[in-house]
Parts: sequence; structure tokens; C-alpha cells
Amino acid sequence: MKRFAVIGHPVAHSRSPLIHARFAEDTGLALQYGTLDIAPEALAEQVPTLFAAGWDGFNVTLPHKAAVAALCTEVTPRAALAGAVNTLIRGPAGWTGDNTDGAGLLTDLEVLGIIVRDRRVLVLGAGGAARGILGPLLQAGPAELVVSNRNPWKPEALADAFRSVGPLVPRTHLALKGDQYDLVINATSAGHGGGIPRLPDGLLATGAEAYDLSYGVAHAPFADWAVAAGARRVHDGLGMLIEQAAESFERWHGIRPPTAGLRAAWGSADRR
Ligand SMILES: NC(=O)c1ccc[n+]([C@@H]2O[C@H](COP(=O)([O-])OP(=O)(O)OC[C@H]3O[C@@H](n4cnc5c(N)ncnc54)[C@H](OP(=O)(O)O)[C@@H]3O)[C@@H](O)[C@H]2O)c1
Repeated sequence: MKRFAVIGHPVAHSRSPLIHARFAEDTGLALQYGTLDIAPEALAEQVPTLFAAGWDGFNVTLPHKAAVAALCTEVTPRAALAGAVNTLIRGPAGWTGDNTDGAGLLTDLEVLGIIVRDRRVLVLGAGGAARGILGPLLQAGPAELVVSNRNPWKPEALADAFRSVGPLVPRTHLALKGDQYDLVINATSAGHGGGIPRLPDGLLATGAEAYDLSYGVAHAPFADWAVAAGARRVHDGLGMLIEQAAESFERWHGIRPPTAGLRAAWGSADRR
């Protein structure tokens, strides 16, 4: 039976085994999918060892998404642009690294009926998750894509890195004062500490949507902010999590699993 797992540190909390078990059931494929907790200092030794041991593929989560890219024999263009790998696909001589986060977000936005084309879009945060979604967001043709961050240097570096894909406007949170957006995407991890970035008032245009990559308890602070700021709808990142997993599943098995059942069962949060 083919063997897969999600690699992280810690990783016991990951929902990926549940998602892939459901996909396997729904598509009739027999596979094993578990968790592998690998400490950062062991990653470089473990990744080739797992290949030699015959594993078929992995998802990769925090804190390994950037480091694992250097351990692949090749990376896809979207993973190279993101500078991060969340999916390892078995090749003849080593791992191919891919990044399905951005595709997962775009699919979720489409399912939710959130339009990016010709809209003013703000991404909060400039970490690994932001890097994964900026390329696909630019390719979706927004009127403007702004990235703002607590550390002011990171958005500048991202604007340089994505110049070949499209114009990305770097900002600090403070410099957003006076701006208005149709879609605000929270790609910070601030919710895990119970907070959100400090933002100026009036950021949401009439009818604006708010989307949070975080889910569960970590989603609550951004959801509260967005509701108070007048968002038309507020979404958590569970749909993205499911859709990025579906993209990985398709890369491994050549079959797109249905996601509607899992989406309905988990009921991704919609506060309006
Ligand atoms: N739904 C999904 O499928 C999915 C996929 C990937 C990630 N995620 C979620 O996305 C979030 C970000 O993940 P990541 O991998 O990008 O993390 P990361 O690389 O560690 O980046 C964290 C980002 O959050 C900012 N930040 C952290 N605490 C903050 C605070 N108190 N105030 C303001 N900004 C703060 C950081 O700003 P500085 O640069 O200034 O430190 C940085 O931009 C996490 O919650 C993760 O669970 C969800």
C-alpha cells in the first residue's frame, strides 16, 4: 500500500491525516497517511532517508516549508516563486517539491464566490503563507495587490521577488491609513497569540470581504476585527486547508478528490 505522511514539528495536531483518509474513502484508493514529527536539526538527514525507504509522498508544514525546498531534486515553478514547499512528490531519483497553498486559496475563494479580478486586495503578513498565495493572487488580476507587515523590510523584499509576476505594493500597517480594500486576507500568525496586527480604521470598502488563513481558535481575533470593521462576510482558512490538500492528492494520485462533503462536514466559519 502506498505510504504518505505530513512532516512537521510539532505535527500531532495536523488535520491532514483526516483529510486524506476522507479523500481515499471518497475516491476508493487504498493508502496510508500518518504524521511524522521531525525536528529541524534532523530534516536534512531524514528527507533522503525517507526517499530511500520507499515512501510515496509527504505534505510539509511548519517549520520546514522553506528548508525542505533545498532537499528536493527539483521544485515546481510555483514552489520556487513561493520559496516554500508543502508537497513532496516521489520522482525517479529524489523528491519533487511543489506548493499547493496558493492554488488551495484560489479554489476556496472561487467556491465562496469571492472575486479577485479588478478588486483592491490587501494581504496582511509577509511570512511563508503570504509567499505561497501572492503569485496566484497576482495571476488572478486584482486592480491592486498590497502586502503589509509588522517588519517593514519583508514586503519590500516580496515586491522585488514577485516583480516578474506582477506589481505588488509593499506597505507597513501604519501606511495603510486612508486606504480602502474590497478584500482583506489575513496571512499573519498573530491569531495564535490571540491578536491581530495593529491596523488603521476604515480599511474595508463598502461590501468588502475578509478572509483569514487561520482557523479554529486562532481565527477569532481577526473575525472579531472584521465584523467590527463592517465586512460583508468573514471566512476562516479551513476551506483553503481542504483545497490545498485536494491539490496535493491530485499531484500524487492523478485524481481530483471531491471536497464538498468535507467542506460541509467541517462547516468553515462564515460570520456573516
Ligand atoms: N489555511 C491554510 O491552509 C493555511 C496554510 C498555510 C498557513 N496557514 C496559516 O497562516 C498563518 C501564517 O503562517 P506562516 O507560515 O506565514 O507563518 P510565518 O512564516 O511564521 O509568518 C508569520 C507572519 O505573521 C506576522 N505576525 C506574527 N505575529 C504577529 C503579530 N502579533 N502582529 C503582527 N504580525 C504578526 C509576522 O510578521 P513579522 O514578519 O513582522 O514577524 C509574519 O508576517 C498561520 O496562522 C498558519 O496556520 C494556513
